[in-house]
Amino acid sequence: MSRKILLFGKHGQIGRELTHLLRTLGSVTPLDREDLDLCVPDDIRQLIRSAAPDLIVNAAAYTAVDGAETDESTAFALNAQAPGVMAEEAKSVGALLVHYSTDYVFDGTKNSPYVEEDQANPQNAYGRTKLAGERAIIESRASHLIFRTEWIYAREGKNFLLTILRLATEREELRIVQDQIGSPTWSRAVAEATTEVLARVFSPANDTGPLSELSGIYHMTAAGQTSWYEFARLILDKAMRRTPRAPWFASATGGKPLITRRVIPTTSAEYPTPARRPAYSVLSNARLARVFGIQLPDWQTQLHSMFDDQGGDVSPSE
Ligand SMILES: NC(=O)c1ccc[n+]([C@@H]2O[C@H](COP(=O)([O-])OP(=O)(O)OC[C@H]3O[C@@H](n4cnc5c(N)ncnc54)[C@H](OP(=O)(O)O)[C@@H]3O)[C@@H](O)[C@H]2O)c1
Repeated sequence: MSRKILLFGKHGQIGRELTHLLRTLGSVTPLDREDLDLCVPDDIRQLIRSAAPDLIVNAAAYTAVDGAETDESTAFALNAQAPGVMAEEAKSVGALLVHYSTDYVFDGTKNSPYVEEDQANPQNAYGRTKLAGERAIIESRASHLIFRTEWIYAREGKNFLLTILRLATEREELRIVQDQIGSPTWSRAVAEATTEVLARVFSPANDTGPLSELSGIYHMTAAGQTSWYEFARLILDKAMRRTPRAPWFASATGGKPLITRRVIPTTSAEYPTPARRPAYSVLSNARLARVFGIQLPDWQTQLHSMFDDQGGDVSPSE
């Protein structure tokens, strides 16, 4: 019998990639806001009870980091309450819950990669709500895998890479912060790593151990680290060289030429945002490698792959 998989957030950066990749593991029901509003707990409960899935993957979230500062209650409903309800229902139907969290649960004061056991101390509303979501899942005692990722970019959606490409058609000079360090991660790499983890967990030859023992938090980011400034420089370098142009690129630039000539490093102090961001956001992926034998490529390799992959964009039609 085919494994039943519920996927929340099918139109998100990671969800869009998962919609396709998870099909290798079973029969996927991809859902988004039009199918179910995750701010309504009773609807989540009803849906999970009637679907009785084997696996629930939650790629939906309130991801507007600055918006959460003035709308923490909506962010909390989506990032904390909804995953908590999913976890309770997952436990009652015996499903595994996969959920994503963030580097923003940390305060960024460390200067070596954060491990899963490090003390969380979020500095903004988004981070607080995501941490509350992690805790609600853990407290439910459902089988779960929480993957903390960071600095996600994709060919569609709202992300730094697409913003840089758009700005590059509008401005000769860009000023980009240099004092925030992290690991830019392609959404596809996260979706692939998630699918690989699940394939191992569900494999009849599963040598990773029982789910009850595997449950917990795992960091899942690109290897290596950089600043937003260096990331922007490599994006522009790739964009300026790249031929032929794929449809996603034409859509990101509106088909206009890139006119940026200079990228100037700046500081977070010179570029204030409503939400405070951690200065240092690098996560250690050692646990993911140790338990599942999975390591994501380094951030430069992922960026090259995203630009160079001609395999076509993931269909937005689902
Ligand atoms: N983006 C990052 O840099 C980043 C960094 C660290 C961790 N993460 C985590 O990774 C996960 C995926 O992030 P992402 O960047 O792929 O997210 P995303 O592109 O912002 O997508 C979020 C999805 O959630 C859906 N959604 C929002 N409100 C909803 C509601 N009320 N009911 C149902 N669906 C709703 C959105 O639907 P609509 O399209 O209708 O709005 C969208 O499909 C999240 O848990 C996020 O916290 C992301």
